[in-house]
Amino acid sequence: MRKNIVAGNWKMNKTFQEGIEFAKELKDVLANEKPNCDVVICSPFIHLASLATILEVTEIGVGAENCADKVSGAYTGEVSAAMVASTGAKYVILGHSERRAYYGETAEILKEKVKLALANDLTPIFCIGEVLEEREAEKQNEVVYNQLADSLFELSDEDFSKIVLAYEPVWAIGTGKTASSAQAQEMHAYIRSVIAKKFGNEIADNTSILYGGSCNPSNAKELFSNPDVDGGLIGGASLKVNDFKGVIEGFN
Ligand code: 13P
Repeated sequence: MRKNIVAGNWKMNKTFQEGIEFAKELKDVLANEKPNCDVVICSPFIHLASLATILEVTEIGVGAENCADKVSGAYTGEVSAAMVASTGAKYVILGHSERRAYYGETAEILKEKVKLALANDLTPIFCIGEVLEEREAEKQNEVVYNQLADSLFELSDEDFSKIVLAYEPVWAIGTGKTASSAQAQEMHAYIRSVIAKKFGNEIADNTSILYGGSCNPSNAKELFSNPDVDGGLIGGASLKVNDFKGVIEGFN
């Protein structure tokens, strides 16, 4: 059966020292109260190796927020999937709406990133979601379908089954405006039906689909109680241990 996952996405927050402090604190907190879901922290590249070392003995996973679409070579400033994997990180967020919108990441680029992540045994947390105008025009299903089809439909069944999806309606990210529980369930069920059609029922049933967008300790429980919402990708509320713990407790 599919896993329930709460993954933090720190985005461009926390100095190296702040990140280390957070990891040590989270490790202690979760050692005392075992979570009822998988827990992952996705951090800027600079933290990865140290987080992976600190959290090695725990069940808390570590992930990057991005990786390059090239294997290696003269790409100044880029960090490859192999480099991410070499830190001990096991996950990588790909296709986040901020990467798509601010850094021009296209479906084609993301297809390459997904391939390289999988080739290096990283689990992609692949983000999809519509912007407000698309939701208002009732085009959210079409948008999400195309994002899935354009970057992931060429994968083999085996490779697709290694992917975690995150539905993040862009209008809900960092706005305090969460999708309603019903909106989240409706979209997650739709996404699962798309996967079932393309890759079959078994793979669809086993795919974890996370919700992201202003998910916090006060709404996590309700969101996670939906049958097709298998956890969350958490921005703002992943920056403080107490808040993040509150979201994880959405599965209690
Ligand atoms: P917020 O939780 O801050 O809305 O961010 C969600 C997000 O983008 C996670 O990837």
